[in-house]
Amino acid sequence: MTTTTNIAAVTGAVGSSHIRLEGRDKVTGAARYAGEVPFAELAHGWLVLSTVARGRIRSVEDSPVLAMPGVLAVLHHGNAPRVDTDYVGMLGRPNPVLGIFQHDRVPFVGWPVALVVAETSEQAREAAEALVVRYDEEPHDVAFSSGRSDAYTPENTPMVQAETEKGDIEAQLGASAVVVDEEYTTPEEHHNAMEPHAATARWDGGRLDVVDSNQGSTWVAGELASLFSLDPASVRVRAEHVGGGFGSKGLSPHQVAAVMATTVLHRPVRVVLTRRQMFSLVGYRSPTAQRIRLGADADGRLRAFDHQAQSLTSTVHEFIESSAVMGRVMYDADAHHTLHRLVRLDVPTPTWMRAPGEAPGSFALESALDELAEKCGMDPIELRTRNEPETGPVSGLPFSSRNVLACFEEGARRFGWADRDPRPGLRREGRWLLGTGTAAATYPSGVGPSTAAVTAEPDGTFTVRINATDIGTGARTAIASIASDALEVDRDRIRLHIADSDLGPAMIAGGSTGTRSWAWAVTLAAAELRERLALGGSIPPEGITARSNTAEAIEALAQQERHSFGAHFAEVAVDVTTGEVRARRLLGIYAAGTIVNPLTARSQFIGGMTWGLSMALHEEAIRDQASGGLVGADLAGYHFAAHADVPLIEADWVDDPVPDDPVGIKGIGEIGIVGVAAAIANAVWHATGVRHRDLPIRPDRVLRAADEARRRAEEEARSRSEEEVRSA
Ligand code: MOS
Repeated sequence: MTTTTNIAAVTGAVGSSHIRLEGRDKVTGAARYAGEVPFAELAHGWLVLSTVARGRIRSVEDSPVLAMPGVLAVLHHGNAPRVDTDYVGMLGRPNPVLGIFQHDRVPFVGWPVALVVAETSEQAREAAEALVVRYDEEPHDVAFSSGRSDAYTPENTPMVQAETEKGDIEAQLGASAVVVDEEYTTPEEHHNAMEPHAATARWDGGRLDVVDSNQGSTWVAGELASLFSLDPASVRVRAEHVGGGFGSKGLSPHQVAAVMATTVLHRPVRVVLTRRQMFSLVGYRSPTAQRIRLGADADGRLRAFDHQAQSLTSTVHEFIESSAVMGRVMYDADAHHTLHRLVRLDVPTPTWMRAPGEAPGSFALESALDELAEKCGMDPIELRTRNEPETGPVSGLPFSSRNVLACFEEGARRFGWADRDPRPGLRREGRWLLGTGTAAATYPSGVGPSTAAVTAEPDGTFTVRINATDIGTGARTAIASIASDALEVDRDRIRLHIADSDLGPAMIAGGSTGTRSWAWAVTLAAAELRERLALGGSIPPEGITARSNTAEAIEALAQQERHSFGAHFAEVAVDVTTGEVRARRLLGIYAAGTIVNPLTARSQFIGGMTWGLSMALHEEAIRDQASGGLVGADLAGYHFAAHADVPLIEADWVDDPVPDDPVGIKGIGEIGIVGVAAAIANAVWHATGVRHRDLPIRPDRVLRAADEARRRAEEEARSRSEEEVRSA
């Protein structure tokens, strides 16, 4: 386990573009998703969700429904199998929402209260909609706002440190020539993957077999084993094709419901979520209220850095949207403070959503940096250059590689930043005011232990087995290139088996860690296989197999600040008489290690940037205070960027070698969204002279801000002229 030399580009598969291996299957419909795989004797479950935000279930009136056509069972807290939620899984303690039908308490609108199972999906739906559930309702509170007196500082989790602190913030703010002290807000946002969550469960020869749509079958199999107190070896989970995940596809109530139902009915049961159900059952991004205080010398050098972020969680489970982590990596100061606070409300528990933490955090932080640049009379890139840290501002650790300034430099050159007049509100083209803005991006480069097996077959092909998941990113295609280089054989001699927990444990497709983790395992196994093949001899019919486990190699990695970095540039046009904001150009330049497949990597970056644009201008889930539920919880009511909203987007990268990763990979799944909303908001300021600190930048907000700016300008002009009259 000492292979840490960078083997990329031995055969040149890594670094060159390849179309998705399964692309043809997907566009022709041959690829089957979890809700489509056929099973004999399949029954269909339909979840019934609570309609009240807080209270108790008084009754589930299942008798009339059981008499409806095709209905096989109604599971609820009065009759469902017991599950155990007292365990620590791969990513921590389970969300209690997985303990469905275990008690009569209802902690939010959309809590699962029953599963109706029937012969057909239509019969199940009909019966589920007819099921009467009565509640004893209690008053609820779903009102997230900044500065709530019941906000508290959560305990640290293995993933998030709640607070970091060095130096005296107040003293350094007092000694600063320039101070920015502002609050930024982002709304509740939802990931709603193209493919709805779906699972089919059945008992097969004493083993639980689940065909699923998830981001990691090792993870989901482990959770199901714990929940149902099963030997992990008796649980198999597969996820052959997955139509998007974005943090939402782990374990959710529908898989648990399917396992319960198949256990009760002794036949395969499928549960598919509707879009509306996805809005309450699979997590979302918490709204945030973030206060940032920056203090700097007149030349822009930071003295004080304070980022305090408030988000919400449910009453049953704690989730921290880690918005304040970005400054721990990006900017140093004599005094440095970052803090997360939570408010518990009667709402579903939020979860990871593409670039959890950094996505909303970067909006606040990179907007505040732009405000500081404005106050210092400095170019925002120059301000960042002056504050470029030598080592991790909080950790003191060296960076494995950083190169964020190289991204700004290359981005500025390509975007034409040098000609920019920094003054706001000056450029006009017909009814449009034009502006440009920039922001930094970063996301952690993580890696998790994984196992892989590589087999040399007698026919000269190689079989690679790894429990990776391709959630639409092109993971299969990337792994083929990595194996090709590691084995020094053409890609067409490689066969892949992925997305099956029986292949052995492997990292999830999440946290931008998938490709890096799987590449490491495949590279190690391939190296071992080549050593064995080098000994000579013929290959037996079953082939020769080498296995790897990266746990030790990862454990031995040097402690460093490991992150991908980037710079985003945006050009916008704003019509202040209609409030319309159009993004005209977006450019992202990244320093993100080895880019395995430029074709699909560009898709990842552009997809992230498109989401950043959507976050800046469109996305916002509205919670109805009276009912506690969401308004318009579907893809018609939840507004997001459509094709016509998306301008020319370019993504590219600078050379960014990582010496101690076998393939030099950092991970690119999430960084594309980070900072884009800030770059757009900064461009809107440059266009109009008005700062927007609340997302999304809706037309009504642009209009109101323009009105206020006009009123202020008129008042200033009036008081100036009055003063002139007085002094005359
Ligand atoms: Mo990502 S939010 O870790 O799928």
